[in-house]
Amino acid sequence: MGEGGRNENIIWQNGKVSYEDRCAVLKQRGLVVWFTGLSGSGKSTVAAELEKMLNEAGKAAYLLDGDNIRCGINSDLGFSDEDRNENIRRISEIAALFQDAGMITLVSFISPFRKMRQFAREKAGEGNFIEVYVNTDFETCMKRDPKGLYKKKIDHFTGKDSSYEKPSNPEIILDTVGHTPYECAKQVYDEICRRN
Ligand code: ADX
Repeated sequence: MGEGGRNENIIWQNGKVSYEDRCAVLKQRGLVVWFTGLSGSGKSTVAAELEKMLNEAGKAAYLLDGDNIRCGINSDLGFSDEDRNENIRRISEIAALFQDAGMITLVSFISPFRKMRQFAREKAGEGNFIEVYVNTDFETCMKRDPKGLYKKKIDHFTGKDSSYEKPSNPEIILDTVGHTPYECAKQVYDEICRRN
């Protein structure tokens, strides 16, 4: 296989500690909670609130946030469809590893394409994945414009000249208009408690 593909001489190594062993230490099971929605929809605000709620309840949780990840491991990627797919491919792999480590892994990325969100779900495993659609409409996101990006003329901006495919069957839909970040986070928290 050529460069970039999986090498036939690479063989998966099993360690001596199983997933169940790790869960027993942490007293919880791993999960991937995947927030998707437009820029400015409130994904990161709700995810941060949820991370705090879980931490205070004594749960091991960690937030992987799009902007932060793009400052580091994904700093080589832009916003073409191809780069967004690579962004989500890498974060899907990382989230699945965190899940396997036993963490309640919160992921906050626009993740505009259904195909890649399905990839993330398959990587984590169906029973370990909660898709949260932060359903804030484009006009509201544009009015909020927390980072001042809607005012700028940015090429390939999601909702303008780059598309966003709404989830067809998310586990949770959040309505951020008329609900506080705390109320939205609590809705997701309750679903996590039902599973954990
Ligand atoms: S994704 O589409 O590849 O999932 P990601 O969530 O990592 O996007 O990053 C989105 C963040 O990058 C936005 O919240 C915004 O702050 C910033 N950003 C910069 N350029 C763009 C753009 N063209 N479209 C959307 N967001 C952008």
